Amino acid sequence: MEPLKGLILSGGAGTRLRPITHTSAKQLVPVANKPVLFYGIEALVDAGIEEIGIIIAPETGDEIREAAGDGSDFGASITYIVQDEPAGLAHAVLTAEAFIAGSPFVMYLGDNLLADGLRGLVATFREDEPDALILLTPVDDPSSYGVAELDGEKVVRLIEKPKDPPTNLALVGVYLFAQPIFDAARSLEPSWRGELEITEAIDSLIDDGLKVQSEVVSGWWKDTGQLADMLEANRLVLEEIEPRLDGDTDDSRIEGRVIVEPGAKVIRSVVRGPAVIGAGAHIEDAYVGPYTSIGDSVRICRSEIEHSIVLAGSVVEDLGTRMEASLLGREVKLTRSDGMPKTLRMLVGDKSEIEII
Ligand code: DAU
Repeated sequence: MEPLKGLILSGGAGTRLRPITHTSAKQLVPVANKPVLFYGIEALVDAGIEEIGIIIAPETGDEIREAAGDGSDFGASITYIVQDEPAGLAHAVLTAEAFIAGSPFVMYLGDNLLADGLRGLVATFREDEPDALILLTPVDDPSSYGVAELDGEKVVRLIEKPKDPPTNLALVGVYLFAQPIFDAARSLEPSWRGELEITEAIDSLIDDGLKVQSEVVSGWWKDTGQLADMLEANRLVLEEIEPRLDGDTDDSRIEGRVIVEPGAKVIRSVVRGPAVIGAGAHIEDAYVGPYTSIGDSVRICRSEIEHSIVLAGSVVEDLGTRMEASLLGREVKLTRSDGMPKTLRMLVGDKSEIEII
C-alpha cells in the first residue's frame, strides 16, 4: 500500500468554547501549555505520516498557519487547505481531494486527543486494507456524538447525534479511509443540521457492501470542544508529564510532577503537581494546585488556583477565594481590591461565564 497521508480538520466554528474561540481557533487552546492541534500532528508523525494537510477556516486559518508553520518543527510537511464554510466533515474531505490525490489517509479531528497514538491503527489498516477503519469508545452521553449500531463486531449503521442512541459507542474523531469515501461523500445531501456528515458517508459505504471495520480504543480519548472535556484532557496529559524545574523557585515548595519553564519565577509559593508553569510566568505568595496549566507570562499573586487552565498573559491577584475548574483566556485580569462597599466590577466579553460560589 502506498504511504498514508494525514488530514487534520481544524476549520469549523467552535461555538461551544466561546468566548475563548470567538477570536481564535479552538484547536489552538492549550492542553498542558501545548495547543491541542499539535498533539494530533505529533501522533501522525509518530505513526510515520509526514505529509499532512490541515483544513482551516477563513476566519481562524492564519492563526493556525502561524502556529504550525510548514511542519518542519514536527518533522512533517504541512499543506493548508481553506474550507470556505464549515459545511461538515464530509465536505472537508471533498475540499481536500486534490491534496489526498489517490492516497489512503488518516482523518484526524483537530480538537481530539487520543492517549494511545495511531501506530496500531495504521498497522491494522495496512494489514486488513478495509475501505474505512473507524474508532469507537463507550461514553456516558452518546447523543452528543456519532454513534455506532453493531451486529456482533460488524458496524451496521452510524447515526450522528441520535436523540435515542442505540448503543453507548461513540465515534472517536480519527478515521482511516481508502478512495471510495470520496464518491460516498459526493452522494450526500446536507443533514438536518445543514452539514455533509461523515457518518452518513461511511453509512453509504456499508450500504454498498464495502469493508468498514471498527476498533474500540483502549486508552482515553477526549473531544476538547467543551470546557469540562478541556479540563479533563488537561488533567490526563498533566498526569504523564516529566517533572523539570528550569525557572526560579525561591522559598517555594514544589511537590509532585511539576514543570517550571525557563524564565518563570515562583516566589514564596506552593505548587502541587501535576502542574505546568509557563515561560516567564510570575507566581508569588500563591498556591497552584493539581491539574493546573499556567501559560507563558501569567501572573498569579496572593491567590489560590487549581484544576484550571490560564492562557498566556493573564493576571490573577488577591482573589481571596480559591479558583477552580476554570479556563481563563489570554490577557484576562482578575483582581480584588479592599474598597467598600463589597461589589463586583467587571468588563466581561460576550458569552463569558462567571459563577460566584
Ligand atoms: O469528536 C468526535 C465527534 O466529532 C464524532 O463523534 C462525530 O460523529 C463527528 O461528527 C464530530 O462531531 P462534532 O460535532 O464534535 O464535530 P465538530 O463540529 O466539533 O468538528 C470536529 C472538528 O472538525 C473540529 O476541529 C472542527 C473541524 N471541522 C468541522 C466542520 C463541521 C472542519 O474542519 N470543517 C467542518 O465543516
